[in-house]
Amino acid sequence: MEAILLVGGQGTRLRPLTISTPKPLLPTAGVPFLAHQLARAHAAGVERIVFATSYRAEMFEAAFGRRAHGVELVYVSEEEPLGTGGAIRNAARALTCGPDDPVLILNGDILSGHDIRAQVELHEKTGAAVTLHLTEVDDPSRFGCVPTDDEGRVTAFLEKTPNPVTNRINAGCYVFRRSAIDAIPADTVVSVERETFPGLIASGAVVMGHVETGYWMDVGTPQAFVRGSCDLVLGRLASPAMPGEPGERLVLDGAVVSPGAVVRGGTTVGRGAVVEAGATVSGSVLLDEVVVAEGATVCDSVLSRGARVGPGAVLEGVVLGDGAVVGPGNELRGGLRVWPGIELPPTAVRFSTDA
Ligand code: GTP
Repeated sequence: MEAILLVGGQGTRLRPLTISTPKPLLPTAGVPFLAHQLARAHAAGVERIVFATSYRAEMFEAAFGRRAHGVELVYVSEEEPLGTGGAIRNAARALTCGPDDPVLILNGDILSGHDIRAQVELHEKTGAAVTLHLTEVDDPSRFGCVPTDDEGRVTAFLEKTPNPVTNRINAGCYVFRRSAIDAIPADTVVSVERETFPGLIASGAVVMGHVETGYWMDVGTPQAFVRGSCDLVLGRLASPAMPGEPGERLVLDGAVVSPGAVVRGGTTVGRGAVVEAGATVSGSVLLDEVVVAEGATVCDSVLSRGARVGPGAVLEGVVLGDGAVVGPGNELRGGLRVWPGIELPPTAVRFSTDA
């Protein structure tokens, strides 16, 4: 089977991490995020993937080449971002399958443990134009929701509302019949969520919902990105691409963790990073060459390449950009983001978005 992987978004919610690296390439449990998706797609029988690129397009081929995790890779780029539907249509130029064949579409920022083969089987059995993976969430008012009838056929694609009719939402993994992709207008900005799916339903086409409620995470925000990486390290979602065994922490080659430091909660310590004695790091992602000095505390945070945390500083739910420096004694909390290269001088000041 062939697949299209949507990776052209700007990842604005993950800035400043995505200034230098597109979201799908951010190191996640020790490898680029997409490695987990490529390995899962391969395990589900996908043999060839077309990358639909736009933002920082050249970085994807440099990262993965022509074959990775057992899958042949092809790259198609948009001159101007075409939105999710336009990107799928544009990437279809590089597909080799026939008009009735199923094509798997993956969003490049979803971690999911669902059974892709079962989704494809439902698609084939029902002869659907499109079959969507639907998951269930506690608070569907934060998402558009997707009701189905008793046979599992999608009846509507509803925008965000305070009173959703179902807690089932679009989980961002689709099986399209190839001919349904070819029907999307070419060279035009199109959203599958706002235009293609509602249009198919209105025209009477069969759109099926494959409901599965296992592990699912959209890693589009810093909080969700850290959670997803830690869940992989802890083994809450098994990934064939994870380097090493699941556990409390993943320490990559060349990292130094002092015996007097505590590192736990699924934290990744990147290559060449240092965690000094008396420091505590929990539920976080430390990229390569990060330094956490003695007595510092870091939790639920992402520290980008070369960032440094001074002695005794406290970071909780924080993002540090490349090379950012937090001087000794600072306390940063509540979703604060420090831009690349910024240096906060030694101080006892507390910064918090809650203040
Ligand atoms: P935010 O800017 O933080 O919302 O992130 P994003 O740019 O990734 O947007 P969003 O999360 O809505 O995108 C969902 C998926 O579609 C991601 O995998 C994106 O990479 C991809 N995507 C979004 N827009 C485009 C586009 O215009 N072209 C291509 N090729 N992919 C896109």
